[in-house]
Amino acid sequence: MAAIKVTGVSKTLEGLKTLDNISLAVECREFRAILGPSGCGKSTLLNIIAGLLKPDQGRIELGGVDWTGRTGRVSYMQQKDLLLPWKNILDNVCIPLLLRGVSRKEAHGTARTYLPDFGLDGFEAYYPRQLSGGMRQRAALLRTYLFTSDIMLLDEPFATLDAITRGKMQVWLKELCAKYKPTVILVTHDIEEALLLADTIYVLSSRPARVLLQAEPAGVTAAINNQLKQEILAVLEAPSTR
Ligand SMILES: Nc1ncnc2c1ncn2[C@@H]1O[C@H](COP(=O)(O)OP(=O)(O)O)[C@@H](O)[C@H]1O
Ligand SMILES: [Mg+2]
Repeated sequence: MAAIKVTGVSKTLEGLKTLDNISLAVECREFRAILGPSGCGKSTLLNIIAGLLKPDQGRIELGGVDWTGRTGRVSYMQQKDLLLPWKNILDNVCIPLLLRGVSRKEAHGTARTYLPDFGLDGFEAYYPRQLSGGMRQRAALLRTYLFTSDIMLLDEPFATLDAITRGKMQVWLKELCAKYKPTVILVTHDIEEALLLADTIYVLSSRPARVLLQAEPAGVTAAINNQLKQEILAVLEAPSTR
């Protein structure tokens, strides 16, 4: 049974058709990327999967249960990191546990066990403004992970980072996911990022977003991935695929 199943989802925002009949399925523990040009509707699609927005048509199933328009089942890291500036890193990452009614002491204990893998060991008492962009994103990822830990939606988590930090974070996320094996949908407009991280890539058209291509990076040889990159670029750059 698919962890995430999107069937025939369409959405119009302020009179503009944004999503056009999107269907996709993500199996448990798979890492999928959704790749598409800026403004095509990627964040809108994640908002619908997370239940923050209702589709005009179509449905969202999570673990085989109709979850259309309902929140609370997936961890969602939105485009901004949204760490609370007045809380230190440990208290920031504990928020989802506290919301679930876990005691502060127990939440701290749980969060502390993950700090080394998230590269935050020794920084728990720091405030967000005292950390680099990469560390803030790792803290936001840990907070996202602690919300449910099994299904994560990540919206362009590294888009604001400089190229060197972004590259390091991508490698780190790949290793982290190999260890913890969550089900992930990562939204990006960066082909290299999608090729590096995902088992399967869905390529979306410009707005209204439709699925143009489903691709499976080989991940083994640079030559095959280069070929796939050219294919994806050709699909994205085609003048009109309607
Ligand atoms: N709440 C909203 N109301 C009206 N239009 C919106 C809203 N959110 C996004 N849009 C518009 O819908 C389109 C898709 O936005 P978005 O999903 O954020 O794209 P992406 O994440 O792919 O860059 C954009 O043209 C954007 O301006
Ligand atoms: Mg977006």
